[in-house]
Amino acid sequence: MLKKNNKIKLIKYYDFINYNLIYNNKAINRYKKDNFELSEDKSENLEKLKKSIINLKNCDLKNGANNMVFCDGNPKAKIMLVGEAPGANEDKEGLPFVGRAGMLLDKMLAAINLDRKKVYISNIINYRPPGNRKPTDKEIERYLPFITKHIEIINPKILVLLGSTAMNALIENNTVISQMRGKWIEKKFGNCKTSVIITFHPAFLMRQPAQKKMAWIDLKMIRDKKIN
Ligand code: URA
Repeated sequence: MLKKNNKIKLIKYYDFINYNLIYNNKAINRYKKDNFELSEDKSENLEKLKKSIINLKNCDLKNGANNMVFCDGNPKAKIMLVGEAPGANEDKEGLPFVGRAGMLLDKMLAAINLDRKKVYISNIINYRPPGNRKPTDKEIERYLPFITKHIEIINPKILVLLGSTAMNALIENNTVISQMRGKWIEKKFGNCKTSVIITFHPAFLMRQPAQKKMAWIDLKMIRDKKIN
């Protein structure tokens, strides 16, 4: 039996060490979502987002890749483009769209007087899927919160989705891209309200050059869109 004085001392000690907090019987959540609050500072938010992607655990894509591919271009741009996933060149350089598809993308942008200083570019997935295969539904689901946050941070007036992977992931439908391209869709990503347009992925256009005329219609829509 503890003497009264000792008992009081022990209670005071437990209070002091914040006993209740230390012996919390909740399970440790090892997969805790990175649910950080956005600050006023875009670059700080981008850094935090980058870190939370780098800190991802148990990701086969990450384990098999050389570099994380986060973005290219101007974070202050009013136009953001989202592709699918890095390929071999992007994985080597750590930048999106630097291979052959990227060269065509640069030409498409130049055709409407844009370049990488005037737009911001990222992908649905930040690590290269092995052998350039399409990302699986599970991989897309895992990376979706990051690209959604990324869009919210950049807060673009126009969001260009390149190809069906970006379309299906961010517009949540299973319609074919040929029916969805070339239309403006108003959409919210967190606090970001933006005008979305879907167009063909440049890698698809390299395989199907006859579709370039449709992509040109989409590009002119982007060029002519009034943004405030
Ligand atoms: N294709 C993409 O979708 N993204 C890249 O970064 C490169 C090729």
